[in-house]
Amino acid sequence: DAGDVDAGKKVFAKCAACHAVGQNAKHKVGPVLNDVIGRKAGTAEGYNYSPAMAKAGEGGLVWDDTTLHAYLAKPRDVVKGTKMTFAGLKKRDDVDNVIAYLESFSTV
Ligand code: HEM
Repeated sequence: DAGDVDAGKKVFAKCAACHAVGQNAKHKVGPVLNDVIGRKAGTAEGYNYSPAMAKAGEGGLVWDDTTLHAYLAKPRDVVKGTKMTFAGLKKRDDVDNVIAYLESFSTV
Protein backbone atom coordinates (compact mmCIF):
# COMPACT_ATOMS: atom_id res chain seq x y z
CA ASP A 1 0.00 0.00 0.00
CA ALA A 2 1.10 3.58 -0.47
CA GLY A 3 2.84 4.81 2.64
CA ASP A 4 3.24 8.23 4.15
CA VAL A 5 6.77 9.64 4.28
CA ASP A 6 6.25 11.82 7.36
CA ALA A 7 4.64 8.99 9.30
CA GLY A 8 7.48 6.75 8.13
CA LYS A 9 10.03 9.17 9.51
CA LYS A 10 8.51 8.61 12.95
CA VAL A 11 8.56 4.84 12.51
CA PHE A 12 12.22 5.09 11.50
CA ALA A 13 13.00 6.19 15.06
CA LYS A 14 12.84 2.45 15.82
CA CYS A 15 15.50 1.79 13.22
CA ALA A 16 17.75 4.78 13.83
CA ALA A 17 19.67 3.21 16.71
CA CYS A 18 21.18 0.89 14.13
CA HIS A 19 20.64 2.54 10.72
CA ALA A 20 21.39 5.91 9.18
CA VAL A 21 19.95 7.55 6.07
CA GLY A 22 20.57 10.85 4.34
CA GLN A 23 23.60 12.92 3.48
CA ASN A 24 26.81 11.79 5.20
CA ALA A 25 25.08 8.69 6.59
CA LYS A 26 27.54 6.12 7.93
CA HIS A 27 27.22 2.44 8.73
CA LYS A 28 26.32 1.88 12.38
CA VAL A 29 25.34 -1.47 13.90
CA GLY A 30 23.41 -1.90 10.64
CA PRO A 31 24.17 -0.74 7.09
CA VAL A 32 23.31 2.68 5.63
CA LEU A 33 19.85 2.45 4.08
CA ASN A 34 20.24 5.07 1.34
CA ASP A 35 19.33 3.49 -2.02
CA VAL A 36 18.25 0.26 -0.38
CA ILE A 37 15.21 0.01 -2.68
CA GLY A 38 16.22 -2.10 -5.66
CA ARG A 39 19.49 -3.15 -4.02
CA LYS A 40 20.54 -6.75 -3.77
CA ALA A 41 20.51 -7.83 -0.10
CA GLY A 42 23.85 -7.75 1.66
CA THR A 43 25.67 -5.48 -0.76
CA ALA A 44 26.09 -2.02 0.79
CA GLU A 45 29.77 -1.23 0.27
CA GLY A 46 31.98 -1.35 3.34
CA TYR A 47 29.48 -3.06 5.64
CA ASN A 48 30.21 -6.43 7.20
CA TYR A 49 27.06 -8.55 6.77
CA SER A 50 26.20 -11.86 8.37
CA PRO A 51 26.89 -14.88 6.18
CA ALA A 52 23.11 -15.41 6.10
CA MET A 53 22.43 -11.97 4.58
CA ALA A 54 25.28 -12.27 2.09
CA LYS A 55 23.92 -15.66 1.01
CA ALA A 56 20.37 -14.31 0.69
CA GLY A 57 21.61 -11.69 -1.76
CA GLU A 58 23.61 -14.24 -3.72
CA GLY A 59 20.44 -16.32 -3.82
CA GLY A 60 18.58 -13.48 -5.51
CA LEU A 61 17.01 -11.49 -2.67
CA VAL A 62 16.49 -7.88 -3.80
CA TRP A 63 14.87 -5.23 -1.60
CA ASP A 64 11.58 -4.07 -3.06
CA ASP A 65 8.13 -3.39 -1.70
CA THR A 66 7.27 -7.08 -1.35
CA THR A 67 10.52 -8.32 0.14
CA LEU A 68 10.78 -5.37 2.54
CA HIS A 69 7.24 -6.00 3.77
CA ALA A 70 8.15 -9.56 4.61
CA TYR A 71 11.54 -8.75 6.15
CA LEU A 72 10.43 -5.79 8.24
CA ALA A 73 7.50 -7.76 9.66
CA LYS A 74 9.63 -10.80 10.59
CA PRO A 75 13.32 -10.30 9.86
CA ARG A 76 14.47 -13.63 11.18
CA ASP A 77 11.84 -15.61 9.29
CA VAL A 78 12.86 -14.11 5.97
CA VAL A 79 16.64 -14.26 6.46
CA LYS A 80 17.37 -17.09 8.86
CA GLY A 81 20.56 -16.26 10.70
CA THR A 82 20.41 -12.50 10.11
CA LYS A 83 22.23 -10.48 12.72
CA MET A 84 19.50 -7.82 12.65
CA THR A 85 18.21 -8.34 16.19
CA PHE A 86 14.92 -6.56 15.68
CA ALA A 87 11.63 -8.30 16.36
CA GLY A 88 9.86 -6.67 13.43
CA LEU A 89 7.06 -4.15 12.95
CA LYS A 90 3.64 -5.49 13.93
CA LYS A 91 1.48 -2.94 12.11
CA ARG A 92 1.25 -3.12 8.35
CA ASP A 93 0.74 0.68 8.23
CA ASP A 94 4.07 1.17 9.98
CA VAL A 95 5.73 -1.03 7.38
CA ASP A 96 4.07 0.84 4.49
CA ASN A 97 5.13 4.14 5.96
CA VAL A 98 8.72 3.24 6.76
CA ILE A 99 9.12 1.87 3.22
CA ALA A 100 7.82 5.20 1.86
CA TYR A 101 10.41 6.93 4.04
CA LEU A 102 13.19 4.66 2.71
CA GLU A 103 11.99 5.30 -0.86
CA SER A 104 12.56 9.00 -0.27
CA PHE A 105 16.28 8.16 0.16
CA SER A 106 16.44 5.92 -2.91
CA THR A 107 16.77 6.92 -6.53
CA VAL A 108 14.74 4.09 -8.07
C1 HEM B 1 19.89 -5.06 7.93
C2 HEM B 1 15.95 -2.24 7.65
C3 HEM B 1 15.83 -1.97 12.49
C4 HEM B 1 20.25 -3.91 12.65
C5 HEM B 1 18.78 -4.39 7.42
C6 HEM B 1 18.34 -4.38 6.06
C7 HEM B 1 17.25 -3.59 5.99
C8 HEM B 1 16.97 -3.10 7.31
C9 HEM B 1 16.44 -3.26 4.74
C10 HEM B 1 19.05 -5.11 4.92
C11 HEM B 1 20.01 -4.11 4.32
C12 HEM B 1 20.90 -4.62 3.22
O1 HEM B 1 20.76 -5.76 2.74
O2 HEM B 1 21.79 -3.84 2.81
C13 HEM B 1 15.58 -1.90 8.94
C14 HEM B 1 14.44 -1.08 9.29
C15 HEM B 1 14.37 -1.06 10.64
C16 HEM B 1 15.51 -1.81 11.15
C17 HEM B 1 13.54 -0.38 8.28
C18 HEM B 1 13.29 -0.48 11.52
C19 HEM B 1 11.97 -0.71 11.24
C20 HEM B 1 17.04 -2.42 12.95
C21 HEM B 1 17.47 -2.38 14.34
C22 HEM B 1 18.71 -2.94 14.37
C23 HEM B 1 19.06 -3.32 13.03
C24 HEM B 1 16.67 -1.79 15.49
C25 HEM B 1 19.64 -3.16 15.57
C26 HEM B 1 19.13 -3.62 16.75
C27 HEM B 1 20.53 -4.42 11.40
C28 HEM B 1 21.69 -5.20 11.09
C29 HEM B 1 21.58 -5.55 9.72
C30 HEM B 1 20.35 -4.95 9.22
C31 HEM B 1 22.80 -5.60 12.06
C32 HEM B 1 22.52 -6.45 8.92
C33 HEM B 1 21.91 -7.84 8.99
C34 HEM B 1 22.79 -8.99 8.54
O3 HEM B 1 23.89 -8.78 8.02
O4 HEM B 1 22.33 -10.12 8.74
N1 HEM B 1 17.93 -3.61 8.16
N2 HEM B 1 16.22 -2.29 10.09
N3 HEM B 1 18.02 -3.01 12.19
N4 HEM B 1 19.75 -4.28 10.26
FE1 HEM B 1 17.98 -3.33 10.19
